[in-house]
Amino acid sequence: MAHILITSGPTRQYIDPVRYLTNASSGKMGACLADSCLNLGHQVTIISGPVNVAYPEEANVINVSTTGEMLAAARHHFPDADGVIGAAAPCDYSPRIVQDQKIKKTGDGLTLHLEETPDIIATLGGIKLAHQWVVGFALETDDQRFRALVKLEAKCCDLIVLNGPSAMDSPNNTIEILDPVGTIVLATKGTKPEVADAILQTIEQKLLSS
Ligand code: C5P
Repeated sequence: MAHILITSGPTRQYIDPVRYLTNASSGKMGACLADSCLNLGHQVTIISGPVNVAYPEEANVINVSTTGEMLAAARHHFPDADGVIGAAAPCDYSPRIVQDQKIKKTGDGLTLHLEETPDIIATLGGIKLAHQWVVGFALETDDQRFRALVKLEAKCCDLIVLNGPSAMDSPNNTIEILDPVGTIVLATKGTKPEVADAILQTIEQKLLSS
């Protein structure tokens, strides 16, 4: 039995107390991955941004809002885990200044200065120990395999799951899983529960059996 950490859902970066930037992510893939892990007898910790999906009761769910909070929770729980699956879509940009009162409309528009948020999977990839593994996701619109492989390397992932924008908020998904030398170790499509089972089978074969 392994202890598997899953990041799931979107994060929010507030502009003022009521407005925020976010990403389109339902948390469905994270929930299906958690089900697949539990069905195989693994222990699951989910770190989730705000979502409406129901996570399995047997999973330990840690709710967060911002990318910084997701990173802090992931760093806290990663040492107790055998590996992490990065199914979250953390918001990549944060306003440089967060207003503590609601911004008033002036009729002159609004200019935001954004800075990049930390990358959670890259951070965990950089600190993983020899027995730990990291599986990332890459949602690409063009040059898909090449970009996914660049991401795998940049984030020190052991495997990367490549999917397209049609995965967003859909009940279905079409994926390829690439290893660090660019071999497509799995290509499949189906409902998200079916795809999650296939991802977990690949993780068991490639990362848990060694
Ligand atoms: O760079 P991109 O966002 O396409 O990378 C996707 C992968 O990186 C996913 O596994 C996602 O969960 C992870 N990620 C992250 N922290 C970020 C951005 C992406 O963990 N700030």
